[in-house]
Amino acid sequence: MKINNRLDAIGVYHFKTIDAIKEKRRKEGKKIIDLSIGDPDLPVEPSILQALVDGFKEEGFNKYPPYDGINELKKQVINYYKNEFGVDLDLEEVSILIGSKEGISNIIPAVCDINDIVIVPEPGYPVYSAGAKLWGCIPYTVPIKESYDYLVNFTEISREVSGKAKLMFINYPNNPTGASGNGEFFAEIIKFCEENNIVLCNDAAYNEIITAEEKPLSILQFDKNKHSVEFGTFSKLYNMTGFRIGYAVGNKQVIAALVKVKSNLDSGQFIPIQRAACRALNLNKAYGDEIREIYFKRRVVAERVLKEKNIEFFPTKSTFYIWCKTPRGYTTSEFCSEILDKYGLVVTPGSCFGTLGYDYFRIALTCSWEVIEEGLSSLPKY
Ligand SMILES: Cc1ncc(COP(=O)(O)O)c(C=O)c1O
Repeated sequence: MKINNRLDAIGVYHFKTIDAIKEKRRKEGKKIIDLSIGDPDLPVEPSILQALVDGFKEEGFNKYPPYDGINELKKQVINYYKNEFGVDLDLEEVSILIGSKEGISNIIPAVCDINDIVIVPEPGYPVYSAGAKLWGCIPYTVPIKESYDYLVNFTEISREVSGKAKLMFINYPNNPTGASGNGEFFAEIIKFCEENNIVLCNDAAYNEIITAEEKPLSILQFDKNKHSVEFGTFSKLYNMTGFRIGYAVGNKQVIAALVKVKSNLDSGQFIPIQRAACRALNLNKAYGDEIREIYFKRRVVAERVLKEKNIEFFPTKSTFYIWCKTPRGYTTSEFCSEILDKYGLVVTPGSCFGTLGYDYFRIALTCSWEVIEEGLSSLPKY
């Protein structure tokens, strides 16, 4: 059978492999504590579910939805940006997505030609570089380092690359490191991309997963010329990963190009799911604060046990991840296999986020604090 050659350039999606390992262990009756994937364990807020069910009573709920989303949801996203960030958007500056992963993939052909360079952070969410390769582009990895608080240091990008690149992904709050962006950094990277005519995309999937005292930031707050695009999702804050719903906002021309790709390849998300997302954006701040409190408590517990075990980690309060250094004397894959075999603990090896993550592993705080404590406490002192 003839298969696309480009598939050889990417591996099997790591979490698909992990799923098979977990399933095998479960079948063998062995215990598993899964701190690997960023799929929240918390329930969906009941009024979101009610809005989903009510959506089935709407006339035409079963029809093809508009490609770029229903106007009601686009307007809710606009309100959210206005109220939370003071950013004005109009309808053409918003597209609803079938999860932000869809947008991350489809923005590549929207902006790039075959063989164009896409700048991607490493370690980073693997979809940026896999997407670039699959769409026939060339990912150029820019290292993000602890010494630079895991911010993208664009001065490390050569003039040759910045002159040729068409698209750049950044991701703050950051998966896997938990690093946060800040206004000064956003302003500088926007300027760099504008000067080099690069479309900048901030993947803001974890924007609301911070402490209750902090305020989330949007890259569009710092982008007067609206040159950039930002992705958002209902997956993380609203525990709606399986609903597959997100959005892209920002530069009108880029959004129009993205919708052109989308409309040629897929349709809009199921209308009742969009209604559920409308409801989510109408929940009061107390909802978000409760979620933030839960993750914060889990983080405090996990950090305490990690310190007891002499495992170093990057201190942050953003996202629901902890980026840990592999204990001395192990390769990351040895370490991850050993803790799975001996203690049934599943974490994500840093190499899943690119070769620059090879000396690290990532913990996801997507189990109760009691389970996190139990899992990490079973490890020996390193
Ligand atoms: C950085 C980042 N971006 C995007 C996504 C995808 O989110 P969605 O469920 O909206 O496709 C994830 C999911 O884990 C993520 O970690």
